[in-house]
Amino acid sequence: MLATGNAGKICEFAELLGPLGFEFVAQAEFGIEPPEENGDTFEANALLKARYAAARSGLPALADDSGLEVDALGGAPGVRSARYAGEGAGDLANLQKLLHAMQSVDDAARAARFRCVIALVRDANDPSPIFGRGAWEGRILRAPLGAGGFGYDPVFAPDGESRSVAKLPSLEKHAQSHRGQALRNLVANWRGGVAR
Ligand code: IMP
Repeated sequence: MLATGNAGKICEFAELLGPLGFEFVAQAEFGIEPPEENGDTFEANALLKARYAAARSGLPALADDSGLEVDALGGAPGVRSARYAGEGAGDLANLQKLLHAMQSVDDAARAARFRCVIALVRDANDPSPIFGRGAWEGRILRAPLGAGGFGYDPVFAPDGESRSVAKLPSLEKHAQSHRGQALRNLVANWRGGVAR
């Protein structure tokens, strides 16, 4: 069970999990609405989403919690990335609020990173969930570039790139992204039986 209602994430997980031989169903296919994300950390939110979906479906569940940390904004929007411009805000409103907040920030001070934590639980009360983590360093652009991807992709350029993530082919994104890193880290932790 993939515990997200975010269409951009569902699409990315389909591309990331397919080659690993995993099939999943998205929680909306079971009529499961997302729970309230009231954790203070990516770990807490990923775990609560995974446990919630596992409890309702009876299936093992995987959830990611992710977001953008901007140094000049003290780490905001962080865990609040999906609702930066208010509860129920869309990608465009969030992105515009970010550009506005960054308007007077110098080029040298525009560092930011995407973070992703993925949690996997075998059942709702799994005592040892498996986590995977990833971070993708870059900077906030002054205007949106490109139409691909989702969320803040048009205003984030990874280190060493002049293109925004919205201009990267999806396979290039997955090879570098916080979500791709987190999934590979999760698989390594799972196979290694690493303490989480
Ligand atoms: P949540 O994990 O459901 O709380 O939402 C994470 C939010 O972070 C998304 O709604 C996006 O706004 C942003 N985000 C996470 N990953 C990405 C990404 O790969 N590209 C662009 N925005 C992202």
